[in-house]
Amino acid sequence: MASDGEPSVFPIVIRIHMTNFNSKMQIAEDEIHVWVVAIQASESQCATLGRYLDPQETETASRIPHLQKQSSFVVAHGVLRCLIARYLTCHPSALKFVSSPQGKPQLAFPERMQFNMTRSGPWAAFAFSSNCTVGVDLEEVRALPELPNIIRRVLCAEEATQLMLLPEPDRERGFICCWTRKEAYSKAIGLGLLTAFDDFCVAAHPDQPARMNSIGKDASLAAAWTIDDLPVPAGYAGALAYPGPRRRYSFNQITDLNEIMPVPKHQAF
Ligand SMILES: CC(C)(COP(=O)(O)OP(=O)(O)OC[C@H]1O[C@@H](n2cnc3c(N)ncnc32)[C@H](O)[C@@H]1OP(=O)(O)O)[C@@H](O)C(=O)NCCC(=O)NCCS
Repeated sequence: MASDGEPSVFPIVIRIHMTNFNSKMQIAEDEIHVWVVAIQASESQCATLGRYLDPQETETASRIPHLQKQSSFVVAHGVLRCLIARYLTCHPSALKFVSSPQGKPQLAFPERMQFNMTRSGPWAAFAFSSNCTVGVDLEEVRALPELPNIIRRVLCAEEATQLMLLPEPDRERGFICCWTRKEAYSKAIGLGLLTAFDDFCVAAHPDQPARMNSIGKDASLAAAWTIDDLPVPAGYAGALAYPGPRRRYSFNQITDLNEIMPVPKHQAF
């Protein structure tokens, strides 16, 4: 159950059809839009997306030593710009971002949109709202050495108990799923890993619906938040968090970057 008492399935209410490449996309006040995008790009796609970045993003990318990671950064930031540009009807390179003191990027110009993004391997996920802060996290389910120690160290006692009751083969998926629920919240409030992760408690069982159970031992604060698992590619876990009751969702998965990149006017049809 989510914080509003509704069952926590991911209700897909809208699909955005990307047939008209340069068409405007709209997000209503009671909606959250989520995009999961395959960010493996050809050289020319990477070069095109790279041209949309600002000098600071380009400089950050140039400092990433691993070429594939550098490309993931460039493509994810280019895709973020393409998506926001489609909502705001502007060119991807016209967008300006600022970061909060804790590092959460926000739109500086134009200001009227909230977003958050996450990357894991060949995938990136983006969440958008017109009016409320959002946090999104995506992680690959993978082997984690000394998992029981990690569970006890980073989770609150209730979460740790739930996960340690899982059969050992299910524990990695359980932990990653629980972690994405928590990290999505930490990113929604903008603190990221500076959040005291043992001071709030989510439903930890991976087969039970996501929800916030308590914040600072206070269940009433928890009721002010919605957390949902995302339908993500096999082998991954993903979650979304935002304040207030559950909203309507649009979920889109994109495996062909050409569906997102703007087409020059003379080529559009
Ligand atoms: C945000 C954070 C949780 C990311 O964790 P991660 O699992 O490695 O990365 P994800 O792929 O899920 O998310 C990364 C994206 O989150 C966003 N982000 C960065 N800081 C954020 C914050 N404080 N809150 C919310 N989102 C943040 C960015 O868009 C970032 O993308 P980028 O790295 O391509 O610029 C982690 O880096 C963090 O806690 N940073 C902030 C704390 C900090 O060290 N601040 C120092 C002062 S700047």
